[in-house]
Amino acid sequence: MIIPNLEKARKRSKDPVLIKEHDYNVNSEEKRLGIGKKYFIKTYGCQMNEHDGENIKAILEDLSFEQTNQYTDADLILLNTCSIRENAHNKAFGMLGRIKHLKQQNPGLIVGLCGCMAQEEIVVKEILEKYKWLDLVFGTHNIHRLPQILAESMRSKHQEIEVMSVEGDIIENIPVKRDSKYKAWINIMYGCDKFCTYCIVPYTRGKQRSRHPKYILEEVQDLIKDGYQEVTLLGQNVNAYGKDLSISYGMENLLEDVAKTGVKRIRFVTSHPWDFTDRMIEVIKEYKNIMPYIHLPLQSGSDRILKLMGRRYTKEEYLTLFYKIKKALPYSAITTDIIVGFPGETEEDFLETLDVVKKCKFDSAFTFIFSKRVGTPAYKMKDIISVEEKNQRLQKLNHLVNQYSRLANEQYLGKTVPVLIEGYSEKNPTCLMGYTDTMKLVNVVGNAKYIGQIVNVKIEDVKTWSMDGKIIE
Ligand code: 5AD
Ligand code: SF4
Repeated sequence: MIIPNLEKARKRSKDPVLIKEHDYNVNSEEKRLGIGKKYFIKTYGCQMNEHDGENIKAILEDLSFEQTNQYTDADLILLNTCSIRENAHNKAFGMLGRIKHLKQQNPGLIVGLCGCMAQEEIVVKEILEKYKWLDLVFGTHNIHRLPQILAESMRSKHQEIEVMSVEGDIIENIPVKRDSKYKAWINIMYGCDKFCTYCIVPYTRGKQRSRHPKYILEEVQDLIKDGYQEVTLLGQNVNAYGKDLSISYGMENLLEDVAKTGVKRIRFVTSHPWDFTDRMIEVIKEYKNIMPYIHLPLQSGSDRILKLMGRRYTKEEYLTLFYKIKKALPYSAITTDIIVGFPGETEEDFLETLDVVKKCKFDSAFTFIFSKRVGTPAYKMKDIISVEEKNQRLQKLNHLVNQYSRLANEQYLGKTVPVLIEGYSEKNPTCLMGYTDTMKLVNVVGNAKYIGQIVNVKIEDVKTWSMDGKIIE
């Protein structure tokens, strides 16, 4: 049993990160573990977790398991969890509560927990105390070890916990089963060294480790060969890409090299305002296959709160960067993340946030109430704002944000824009759906033969969250 340790997770070693091309391996016995068995995986949280979920699916299928979308039907249930806010945490524990009944009826059912919550010392301690029936726990740093952890758990029938506190090397041979045939996630880096005071990610995902560009570019080339139209370069803070590599190569270089592969659409998330260079803006402008869509988290508009958050920019610096991007890329869509109710946030601080929203008129914003995360510096900050006050601030903010989302969408009315048609709309299965280059969701009337293609769509109606249009043939 290896359990996570917060103190170790907080440390940043200077040890070089090694690239391992063969560390994922499966022996012939492990290959047969899942014969005749079905797995169900539930992923919570961000795109990084979604992509980890795609790796886990491929590994389980390598072990001969078959996927089912019904957890009641499964022989193996895995919860790929998120710890960013308390509600994500509660959802996973709620699901475990439901699964417990199944496990009581069917003791042969294997249940596992992985993802960011598995990296939390406090969560694993709770599992050891109250969830003794859980079969396996593994973390974000050792996904490649799933075949061995699962084999051991099935053999020993004991609870198997293997969570590394310190990030390991970069494993380059983990298989992937992508959810989409048209758009793909590509990890360009792991971890984060920014340590914003509210954020648990630097503890659950470890120190920043950039993948060598060679592997990223090979992955893009393979995806092009497989007919993929869009790649999204993933990292907690992609603008800092390459800073930890021994070669002089940054995000602007990577973006340019990925653009030169000719892949039709390139996106990247998430950017931190601190590392956004002028050269990056130039590269985005220069290459038409880099999408004019930038997610630029603001978090707060108050200098005092930004400082407490450890964000290392001021309101003025954020606005300057925002205007610089808009000037260079007038057509681009910029979205953001905002937290309200950070410890000590006064009404004046909150008004500063609203002021930035009014100035930037974001295309959309993900808004959150501050959630205390054990182990982060903000956990210990005095939080005197009442729940009602926080909810009121969130409502006010959302009201404003929604107004601007609609306003941004209205600019598209009557225009013809490129949309990658991804499939049928979930809400209306007679309709197709896809995203514009600027990441606007469009419900599209048109022939299903266009699924998987980038087509011109005339926008005929707009709402706050989506638009309606028809394919121009
Ligand atoms: N409480 C609320 N929101 C948070 N985020 C990160 N940590 C917290 C927290 N403790 C938000 C930030 C980040 C987004 C992914 O989640 O806005 O950009
Ligand atoms: Fe968390 Fe800040 Fe790193 Fe983003 S940049 S993952 S908010 S610590």
